[in-house]
Order: sequence, then structure tokens, then C-alpha cells
Amino acid sequence: MGRTIDDLALDTLFREARTYTAWQARPVDDQTLRDLYELLKWPPTSANATPARFAFLRSKEAKERLRPALAPGNHEKTMTAPVTVIVAYDMKFYDQLPKLFPQSPGTKQMFENNPQLVEVTAQRNSTLQGAYLIMAARALGLDCGPMSGFDNAKVDEEFFAAGKPCLGCDQEFFPEGHVKSNFLCNLGYGDPSALRPRLPRLPFNGACSLL
Ligand SMILES: Cc1cc2nc3c(=O)[nH]c(=O)nc-3n(C[C@H](O)[C@H](O)[C@H](O)COP(=O)(O)O)c2cc1C
Repeated sequence: MGRTIDDLALDTLFREARTYTAWQARPVDDQTLRDLYELLKWPPTSANATPARFAFLRSKEAKERLRPALAPGNHEKTMTAPVTVIVAYDMKFYDQLPKLFPQSPGTKQMFENNPQLVEVTAQRNSTLQGAYLIMAARALGLDCGPMSGFDNAKVDEEFFAAGKPCLGCDQEFFPEGHVKSNFLCNLGYGDPSALRPRLPRLPFNGACSLL
């Protein structure tokens, strides 16, 4: 397409966007979360499989279910965030492939017969989709606080185990024990007064090679 975005957009998405741990007292409404999904669903995943599933925890009750799984250093920032999303992945994502990737009918069977390929594909692509979520949130004016400091097994047991439906979710793919957590991401409008100076990044020559 060759289209570019302006400096304001680049600052918003990359150069001035920060990881937030403190939040303004400004709620995030459900329509904003729907708008967020309508953006993040578009960037690419392998075989268009889109294995990520997103559980948006908004209520105090839902946050309390998450609390025992959090590393101590992540309690305060998570309990005070307007929304915490569990970025998860569906180990049976391949059931959707006849709809999502109809041009290749054999792809579903390829995954059904190869659990290792399922795991690596689900992890890789749900991680990508989690990154798409962060960028889409920034594009909508939200701030993010991603976290891996939590007990995945506890989250999976509390929210995704068979017979323990994800609170408030009526989607058929959540309650059957085949969804696993990847990482968490707090969402809201960040309080910049709590920010520390920005950490450095590797220079081009420290991270890239031109072959
Ligand atoms: C996958 C992932 C996991 C992270 N886990 C935690 C965490 O458990 N607790 C925490 O306080 N910050 C966590 N962070 C935040 C990073 O330390 C932070 O994004 C990084 O230092 C860059 O900060 P900046 O965006 O303000 O430049 C995590 C970030 C990512 C992407």
C-alpha cells in the first residue's frame, strides 16, 4: 500500500508510549473493549488461525479471582487497573480453521494429529496477538501494563478449567478446559506521575544485522 502514518501516530504507538503501573480514576467502557478487539483481530497469524482468546476482567469480583495467581509485585497495579485482560490461547483453535482458512481443508487435520505443532503455533500466534492488542490499545488512547509475573496454572484452573466457566463469558470456546493463559495486560488511562525515566533500548547494531 505504501501509506505512512504521521509523527503524532508514531509517538503514540511507539516513541512516547510507556508501560504503566498506576492509573487515572477514569473507567474503560465495554464499547472501548469491543472497539479494541475490532482492531486487534486484523493483523496476521499463521494459517489465519487467530488462536488468542481474551478474558477482560473488569469487576472487583473477577479481579479477586485473579489475585491469588499474581506475583506480589503485580498486586497493586493490577487491582487498581480499570481492566486486566488475560491473553490466552485455545488449544483447539484448529476447530475454527474450516471457517477461517477454507482454502486449505487439510490444515485442521494436520493440527489434530500433531499436539506439539498445536502448542507452538498457539503460543507464537497468541503472543503476536497480545502485541497487536497493546498496539491497538495505544491507537485508541489507552495505556497498557503487560505482565508475565503470575502463576499460569492457577489462572488456567480458576478461569479456564472444565466446568469452571470464565466469569461473564458466554462464548462456547471458554468453558471446556482447552484454553491456557499466555500473559496478562492491565488496561486503562495511565498516571504519568508514577513513571520512572525510560530504560534504554539496544541500538541497531546491537540487535540487527544486514546480510
Ligand atoms: C511480556 C511482558 C511481561 C512483563 N511482565 C511484567 C511484570 O510481571 N511486572 C511488571 O511490573 N512489569 C512487567 N513487564 C513490563 C516491562 O518491564 C516493561 O514493559 C519494559 O521495562 C518497558 O517499559 P516502557 O514501556 O515503559 O519503556 C512486562 C512486559 C512484557 C512485555
